[in-house]
Amino acid sequence: MRQTTTKNYVPKDLDVSSLLQSGFANILVEHTQGSMTIRITKKQEALVHLEKSVLQQNLEHDRAKARLLDPSDPFLRSVGISDSAGNIKPSRQDKYKQVEEFLRLLAPTITSAIEAGHIKTPTKEKPLSIVDLGCGHAYLTFATHQYLLSQGFFVKVVGVDVRQESRNRNSAIAKELGISSTIEFRAEEIKSSAIDYVDVAIALHACDTATDDAIAWAAQNGAKVLLVAPCCHHDLQSQIKQSPEPWGLLTKHGLMKERLADLLTDALRAQILKIIGYRTDVIEFVGGEHTPRNTMIRAVKTGVKPEPSDVQSYQEMLAVWNVKPVLSELLESEIGVSLHS
Ligand SMILES: C[S@@+](CC[C@H](N)C(=O)[O-])C[C@H]1O[C@@H](n2cnc3c(N)ncnc32)[C@H](O)[C@@H]1O
Repeated sequence: MRQTTTKNYVPKDLDVSSLLQSGFANILVEHTQGSMTIRITKKQEALVHLEKSVLQQNLEHDRAKARLLDPSDPFLRSVGISDSAGNIKPSRQDKYKQVEEFLRLLAPTITSAIEAGHIKTPTKEKPLSIVDLGCGHAYLTFATHQYLLSQGFFVKVVGVDVRQESRNRNSAIAKELGISSTIEFRAEEIKSSAIDYVDVAIALHACDTATDDAIAWAAQNGAKVLLVAPCCHHDLQSQIKQSPEPWGLLTKHGLMKERLADLLTDALRAQILKIIGYRTDVIEFVGGEHTPRNTMIRAVKTGVKPEPSDVQSYQEMLAVWNVKPVLSELLESEIGVSLHS
């Protein structure tokens, strides 16, 4: 288990039999008149130990997570997440949750990159440059700007989207909110964006290989932190014609082939970033019930050289599956430098 979950139950809702079959070896149930310890032996027998005592009910775990954004913040109204009374619209709850979860990841990632010296401490003269690639309606762009400002960061945020109407709409909102001096929108293709400086690049659900364009653009322009949540993938799915056996079992059904290609694409993206000097991890950024596209690649430039085994496993993966992901072509020379230096 990677996560600890603590919950309070009223006695009638505690399903002891599914708890016993949950795979845990030790279970502790506490109640106001004592506790019950259950140890599941290797023979699958439950050894139960009861203890009487007087315990106080602790309801702390039931408290809702503190919100990072005030639902009545004018920007949430302008982007259409809150209504005119400042309440989150029922139809936008998932978006709001996604935005909050994103900020919960972004802020500590930036703080630790600054503390570790990977990003220079932002100042009024040299604010933290954040670029949102494929920003669409800019929910995350505005949220990032508003939240980081509220946390005392000096920031300059730029949203890039190929669609001119996105730029017009988002720029009008920025003007209405009076924040145009620190947030800007551009109608550009990610790969040819002319932004000249970036500390943090974010790209959430940029379509298909636009995610690769975003990663490549960020790496080639010196981004120190990348937070990328990929969207649909078609590149490798169409390249996988014949699977190395016995993996054909996983690719003979379209649905599973699609999922496998998604995993392979993101695993290779993460590995490429590692090879070119980013410390990389892949995490879930919002519960799967809110969006199926909930994988996030988080990368921080440390400049650490890859181990030979990192490069070897990357090359073997390409050879075994007979694929060449778009990102490996976009970053061919950067990967080459790492391979040969
Ligand atoms: C699914 S939306 C995601 C929007 C936003 N990032 C979010 O998470 O709410 C993807 C956006 O990426 C933009 N986009 C796709 N390919 C692009 C490219 N090559 N260059 C710039 N923008 C692109 C689309 O116009 C669209 O607005």
